[in-house]
Amino acid sequence: MDIEAAASVFTDPRAYADNERFHAAAALLRRESPVHRVEHPNFAPFYAITRFEDVMAIARRSDVWINAPRPALGPKPKDGKAVDIPVRTLVQMDAPDHPVYRNISVDWFKPLGVRRLRGRVAELAKQYVDKMADLGGACDFSVDIAASYPLYVILSLLGLPEEDFPRMLKLTQEVFGANDADLARADEPDDTSMAALMEFFLYFQTLIHERRAHPTDDLGSVIANATIDGELIGELEAAGYYTLIATAGHDTTSAALAGGLHALLDHPAQRERLAADPSLVPTAFDEMVRWVSPVKQFMRTATRDTVVGGVAIAAGESVLLSYPSANRDADAFDQPDVFDVGRTPNRHLAFGAGVHYCLGTHLARLEGQALYAELMPRLTSVELAGAAEYVETLFVGGPKRLPIRYTLS
Ligand code: HEM
Repeated sequence: MDIEAAASVFTDPRAYADNERFHAAAALLRRESPVHRVEHPNFAPFYAITRFEDVMAIARRSDVWINAPRPALGPKPKDGKAVDIPVRTLVQMDAPDHPVYRNISVDWFKPLGVRRLRGRVAELAKQYVDKMADLGGACDFSVDIAASYPLYVILSLLGLPEEDFPRMLKLTQEVFGANDADLARADEPDDTSMAALMEFFLYFQTLIHERRAHPTDDLGSVIANATIDGELIGELEAAGYYTLIATAGHDTTSAALAGGLHALLDHPAQRERLAADPSLVPTAFDEMVRWVSPVKQFMRTATRDTVVGGVAIAAGESVLLSYPSANRDADAFDQPDVFDVGRTPNRHLAFGAGVHYCLGTHLARLEGQALYAELMPRLTSVELAGAAEYVETLFVGGPKRLPIRYTLS
């Protein structure tokens, strides 16, 4: 593989569906060209940043590197006009707006805030493992378990009715899975994400009106009734907030859960170690998150001329932070290509870093640990029952199919 072929992984959704191809390419780039300029007809040029140290340094310098106007890699608009994104969320914001909007919900995501969901999450984890038992020894772990359990947690957090579950499931998958032919809307494949975002917006607009009229004790009401500089939050901003939480908190965690089980299937000795010692569940889940790195990239744009890893980058140019690559960097991790359920320390970048550091980290850990704490002691045997298939994506992804056979006690 030459360097240009390696760099094509960032613009080819199929590359993230092929872990071997991606990691071989990323290893080559880290070694040969860790700050690599990528030019492709469908994308504005950018630099791919593949080393841990460089990704971390950029993420921490929000005074130099901003999220707007290009927070993540997406196709260049066909007509040359900027895409009119209907919602503006935390990931599109920079200071001074970003800290103000992040503060609205930050307490709900701190360990103390997340603790109030502990009972509900444990109950859901048990329901889903019971569901595996009901499915009679075979299921698609991605579709039947990992795709919907985290969504139920988010619905509980926002206080949304459970009967809306199927609609929300479909919409979040369309927002994040739009590069995968299996998941895109058949009638409008190019505009899938945008159409799904619009539908989210309309759904949440109704919710805002309801929660303003009748506030309840949940994050949904906190957002709907938030004030900014003494003024009630705008509807567009509130809807954007819900959309971000519903989407960011769902597919990411699903990918970590399913990719995590796939890693355990590929590494039977690690699975046995985890089954024998439940105290390893917390480190095991973090290792799953590092291993899968469900979020493939976010971008930053330079506010002034600067230098990264010896490469000069001009003001206005963008960089792509490759989290899956940074998380396999041998300069940052001991034996990075080994899946180790007891890995300590494990300061991975799968949740990002700096002022945009994932808001849902504690919630994701609570969910992941609850599911594996429930599953491992009951899972007496498990094996793959077909090929695992990963989603084609440029943004968030893990296994879309993970057929397994198992026995549960
Ligand atoms: C394993 C699961 C998850 C992974 C891998 C993940 C990963 C990430 C990453 C990489 C970022 C960008 C960080 C940066 O730019 O430095 C992010 C941001 C964010 N995440 Fe997560 N996330 C996960 C789960 C969740 C959950 C459960 C929620 C909420 C319910 C959530 C909500 C958010 C929000 C709101 C942001 C934007 C924060 C900001 O821009 O200030 N995430 N996440």
